[in-house]
Amino acid sequence: MDYKRYIAEKIKIEGVTSDEILSFLEVPPSSDVGDYALPCFRLSKILKKPPVMIATDLKNSIETDDIITEVNAINGYLNFKLNKLFFSEEILDKILSKGYSYGSSDIGAGKTICLDYSSINIAKPFHIGHLSTTVIGAALYRIFKFLGYNAVGINHLGDYGTQFGKLIYAYKKWGDRSVIDKIGLKEITRLYVKYHEQAENDPSMDDRAREYFRLIETGDKECNELFEYFKRITLSEIGKIYDLLGVTFDSYAGESFYNDKMSAVVERLKNKGLLTESQGAMIVDLSEYDLPPCIILRSDGASLYATRDLAAAYYRKNTYDFDKCLYVVAYQQDLHFKQIFKVLELLGEPWAKDMVHVSYGMVSLEDGSMSTRKGHVVLLEDVLEKTMEKALGIINEKNADLENKEDVAKKIGVGAVIFGALSSSRIKDITFSYDKVLSFEGETGPYVQYTVARCNSVLKKGENILADDKKVSGIFDQEYELIKQLGTFPDVVKAAAERYEPFYITRFALDTAKLFNKFYFDCKIVSDDLSRSAFRLKLTKATKIALTSALSLLGVSAPEKM
Ligand code: ARG
Repeated sequence: MDYKRYIAEKIKIEGVTSDEILSFLEVPPSSDVGDYALPCFRLSKILKKPPVMIATDLKNSIETDDIITEVNAINGYLNFKLNKLFFSEEILDKILSKGYSYGSSDIGAGKTICLDYSSINIAKPFHIGHLSTTVIGAALYRIFKFLGYNAVGINHLGDYGTQFGKLIYAYKKWGDRSVIDKIGLKEITRLYVKYHEQAENDPSMDDRAREYFRLIETGDKECNELFEYFKRITLSEIGKIYDLLGVTFDSYAGESFYNDKMSAVVERLKNKGLLTESQGAMIVDLSEYDLPPCIILRSDGASLYATRDLAAAYYRKNTYDFDKCLYVVAYQQDLHFKQIFKVLELLGEPWAKDMVHVSYGMVSLEDGSMSTRKGHVVLLEDVLEKTMEKALGIINEKNADLENKEDVAKKIGVGAVIFGALSSSRIKDITFSYDKVLSFEGETGPYVQYTVARCNSVLKKGENILADDKKVSGIFDQEYELIKQLGTFPDVVKAAAERYEPFYITRFALDTAKLFNKFYFDCKIVSDDLSRSAFRLKLTKATKIALTSALSLLGVSAPEKM
């Protein structure tokens, strides 16, 4: 039974459908007030009455029953109290019967969402600045899938540009394939840095580099072979980090993939009369919209980042026929996406409105060491290594006899980093701290993982009781608060998808863990009272399910024991 719907259907208002009422219903901050509330402010306009009066009139029109035990009108809110035991048993049964599919849905059936995330630049180190796009994008990908959408994960590789010409120059001059084969990206980065050091005194190097890049574009065999080689090395190395983070993609169509698809975009722009010349370059003038011009072709005829994004947008629409196309990219590119979306709109594409820039803030390290310009790049790999190592240290200190210590440390370490990156609303800048993300007491991944492990040990203890299914006659506050929280999971998942905020799930996991721990410390779960024990064990199992699902949507796995 869907209690929210039951309440919505009990409220009869002329001109307002029960679906609308359903969407207005909220969960009050405290259950002393009620279990659900209808804020009447939203109805004020429609009914042309003050909210307080609406709430009072509605209260008088609704009769209580077995399910709704109390209706109150307070300050323009219509509050409902439910038969707590009915409600609780219903939620528990639902979670236990659905298992790990609890919270999933088919609202996305038949709809396609493209997600562009991570989108790393080839031959450059994968640093902590890439953490957010990678984990936010991957979390959204899982969330949309969980809701039945056809999600398409795209790694729009930055595999185009003069830096590849520079790299070929450096490789030919100082490179050694056997060294690259051995140490990979580190050697490629070294060559790249060396190039820049030398080119400062010898500008003619840049001409040579440009020439190499042109050779890649015009299909020169040797240059392309090298380009593919650098790409392969980068991807195989970064693939290891993706594996560690549990991140996957359906497509790696990067910028160079659009080399032969840009002239069509230029044609479209020409035909629409949108292309104008400015200082030799071809641009779309966006001054009318308070935006700088979108440069399509440079004066030497070369395409730009924007040109490739326009071609990619058409390609994605034609290939996947998306309902939405998301770009999980830092807020530094706000302007770029405004321009792209505006140009598509001017081109008359009705789907321009389906493009969304899911922007996010910066990650910096506590000691301020994140500065690419000074050459202090903090590699994501190093951060993950260090967190896993620290996690192992904590295990050795607290529970040295634990089985599979290395594997648990990996889950804790990686989980801590992911959870930390998804702990606040995505637009906020984050300062990363090892101690903060690894704390077992704070609002962290390890805290939630530890709670799941606690559920497991309780369940083990009560193994034989779980089968016993006698009824309880009442419910304790700690039990009820936890159950209500578990009941919100399906709505939380939907809200996370709607607002593109994996953080809602992080929040859910933390709040659930806190309520479970309160329940755990206040109530004896396994006791002489068999029916109470069975009920509490069911609640423990439901908690484990919801927490494990929430964590797995975020990309965090929960070790059995910790
Ligand atoms: N490679 C780009 C960067 O690192 C991000 C690409 C984002 N995706 C896109 N379609 N523009 O800045």
